Amino acid sequence: MKNLLFIVIGLAFTISVSAQQKQPGWKAPEKYKTMKVTEKGDLAVGKELFNKNCKSCHGAKGLGDGPKAAAMKTFPGNFTADYFKKYNDGELYYISFVGSGEMPNYEKKIADEGDKASVLAYIKQLSKAK
Ligand code: HEC
Repeated sequence: MKNLLFIVIGLAFTISVSAQQKQPGWKAPEKYKTMKVTEKGDLAVGKELFNKNCKSCHGAKGLGDGPKAAAMKTFPGNFTADYFKKYNDGELYYISFVGSGEMPNYEKKIADEGDKASVLAYIKQLSKAK
């Protein structure tokens, strides 16, 4: 009977981990929360930049399962999770380009504001995918 309990607890844990709805702990500073992204992004450009710069940690679909993710102390997040859909443009801009903790800074690598808007447009498209 005790063994069965362990199996049930183990199974519940496995399911909750595989769903990965867990929200990473980063917080955007106030000035980003109210920031507007005015440039119009291009999805094709965004996809190319994402695959080149971000996929290694975030995974092709933004599930947080890229090959480098396992070596991270912080889970990179799941772009398709419910909590993710609540971020506004400024918050996404902050975490994507300024970074926080193990999330690198991309202000120099992706310097063009149009390119930044393209990456954000692509992330938001990934977020809509089921
Ligand atoms: C070296 C691994 C790594 C790379 C490369 C990387 N990220 Fe991240 N990213 C992270 C980690 C780790 C976090 C969680 C940070 C935290 O909570 O402190 C994160 C968080 C994020 C989040 C918030 C996720 C959430 O669920 O709250 C977004 C959006 C994001 N990154 C976008 C990008 C974009 C866009 C790129 C490429 C331009 C990129 N990342 C490249 C590791 C990476």
